[in-house]
Amino acid sequence: MKIWKRFFAIAQVIVLSFSFSLSANSQAMPLVWQKIANGVWKAEAGRPEAMNFLTVSGVAPKTSAINAMLPVDFPLEENEIKVELYDGKTYLRFPLDEAEKIFGLGLNFKTVEQRGRILRLHVDHYDGIDNGRTHAPVPFYVSSKGYGVFINSARYLDVWVGTGVRADSKHPPVSTDRNSDPQWSASPYSDNVEVLVPAEGVELYVFGGPTTLDAVSRFNLYQGGGCLPPKWGLGFWHRTPTLFSDQDLLNEVRGFEEHKFPLTVIGLEPGWQSKSYPCTYEWDTKRFPDPQGLISKLKGKGIYTNLWINPYVAPSSKLISSLKPYTASHTVWTGYVPDYAMKEATQLVGKHFKDNLLNLGVSGFKMDENDGFDFWLWPDVTRFPSGVPSEIMRQSYGLMMQKNFTQLYRAENKRTYGLVRASNAGATSFPFVIYNDYYSHKDFITALINSSFIGTLWTPEVRGSATAEEWLRRMQTVCFSPMAMLNAWADGTKPWSFPEVEKQVADVANLRMQLIPYLYTCFAEYTFYGRPPFRAMNLVDGFSVEDKSETGELNSVDNPYAMAKKREIKDQYMVGDHLLIAPLFTGETKREVVLPKGKWYDFFTGKLVGESQVITVSPGLDRIPVFVRDGGIIPMATVSSVSDGKFDIVIRHYGDKESDYNLYDDDGKTFDYEKGDFSWRKISVKRNKKGELKGTVSPAEKGKPDNLGSISWDFKK
Ligand code: GAL
Repeated sequence: MKIWKRFFAIAQVIVLSFSFSLSANSQAMPLVWQKIANGVWKAEAGRPEAMNFLTVSGVAPKTSAINAMLPVDFPLEENEIKVELYDGKTYLRFPLDEAEKIFGLGLNFKTVEQRGRILRLHVDHYDGIDNGRTHAPVPFYVSSKGYGVFINSARYLDVWVGTGVRADSKHPPVSTDRNSDPQWSASPYSDNVEVLVPAEGVELYVFGGPTTLDAVSRFNLYQGGGCLPPKWGLGFWHRTPTLFSDQDLLNEVRGFEEHKFPLTVIGLEPGWQSKSYPCTYEWDTKRFPDPQGLISKLKGKGIYTNLWINPYVAPSSKLISSLKPYTASHTVWTGYVPDYAMKEATQLVGKHFKDNLLNLGVSGFKMDENDGFDFWLWPDVTRFPSGVPSEIMRQSYGLMMQKNFTQLYRAENKRTYGLVRASNAGATSFPFVIYNDYYSHKDFITALINSSFIGTLWTPEVRGSATAEEWLRRMQTVCFSPMAMLNAWADGTKPWSFPEVEKQVADVANLRMQLIPYLYTCFAEYTFYGRPPFRAMNLVDGFSVEDKSETGELNSVDNPYAMAKKREIKDQYMVGDHLLIAPLFTGETKREVVLPKGKWYDFFTGKLVGESQVITVSPGLDRIPVFVRDGGIIPMATVSSVSDGKFDIVIRHYGDKESDYNLYDDDGKTFDYEKGDFSWRKISVKRNKKGELKGTVSPAEKGKPDNLGSISWDFKK
């Protein structure tokens, strides 16, 4: 008995002194916010690690563009942002108001609003759950109150978005009794966002608004502004089956010609290489005896060539003898993993690509498999010769690859546009679009919406379909996305694979081509002003939707805690300021569309469809519902003039309103625009004395690019 008592007494002392030493180690840190640009503040908590997303990306902020925005004050109560160092980790807390909505925190596929979610931000392929494991787990969130927060750490971060309830909360939830109160909730109100950074410090940024779109724009500009793809990148892409030869490829191109279907980029999948999984990055000389001849032949037809790669280098690649010292301790699919934190690896691989591929005229790459899944990637016990921990490598590998390829093309003063499966903060200015294998059409659209909060681009690429209806519905949405692409690597599909909808598919692909002047201008706004080209409705100023958070019904099987269901807009989005896209999915014949403030018109007919209201539309299978705001100006190329960037344009105007629009133009393929070689042409629509709408286009400034041919008008009224 006595022995037990003594044991307990000793145990108590140990526990007490342990907890004492823990709290003694816990350090609350004051934050000093430094204003580094108009509406951008930075603070350092603890000792931030040297390597973070911004140091990896190395892109200079577009400070003058940020400074040209509206001046704003620090958008949060400074003393409500708390930092604590404890257990070698950094604990962060940011305040949340009751009505505040939170967006961003990675490329999510099922949810748009992140309040109420718990995420571990971790680069991975997407596996059907919005838990933070995704292709671009960008640690940035933006609030409906018009500010953004960026946690610049390349670690796996845990984020509790309005879920943790502190005992010392200033705004505690009301405690209710489940037995008697039907309003009882399993998710009591939480007034904070909490983040656990597994490092002894971190760099933090706050971006002001005043609008949510402004906060996102500042975040994008801070990373160098959005990418500007070459004009050809905005045309129609087709990726061919894995083991196609040069002859198969030319036959495929002939098919496009015969079917009079537009084609600007052809993508070659793994079989262009002598070996893949792991990759040699060398041509298979049987399938491709004369790659240079093939690429030139395609170029002669106005078709650019894009090549698939993954990061893992085959032992038999000529690169390996020099590259091996700069590769990781583990292999993937028996391929060596280059340590792109080392300039030697970057230079060796870069030189190989330049000498053997860029010099032949290859216009870009699809960088596959740099995201994970855990079984197909290096484990976190891997050691890299640079000494960079594998966790940081995993979080930033896709970013590093994008940077390397951007620089290779930049060195030749050529723009590229390509694909990548892993990205993160810091990549906004790199011209790559994210894609994956997941293939849920609806979720692809939600991902497209979410990409706009976090400075990334996403394509809902088309592969195969079970029915002609699904095929057409998918084609319709991909043509209103950053990359209009059919990826036939496995299915061998062609745009005309479903003859019953061939015409409708061709119509929407041709519409895509006609929209290039409008889309290119949207991208220029991304580059110069940070505004995402494809964007969530929640980024539209004044957009609101009745928040129908319903108290869930108690049900022992589906909802034992009576969790509430939120209403969020995850199936309609904007292209630039003027076009609203409301896709229909297989099986649907009608849908609701929530119109933002003002009058809206049908894109195809010009008819008024509604004003500041929710409408129901049923346009039939042939058309994707597209709407234009009152006064919307849409410059469109004529179908016959869509060639290397010189356009005859038809300018559409919708509705009653007098309006202005700035059309962007440059050479469409080099970086000369960065030296001022670009023009904004002002399009104005005003009423004349008779009250009729008339349009004018300002001439290009002397010595500036002028790629406009004939100009005509189409007043949709
Ligand atoms: C997948 C990729 C596909 C295709 C395929 C080729 O990882 O997502 O688009 O490229 O590899 O093996």
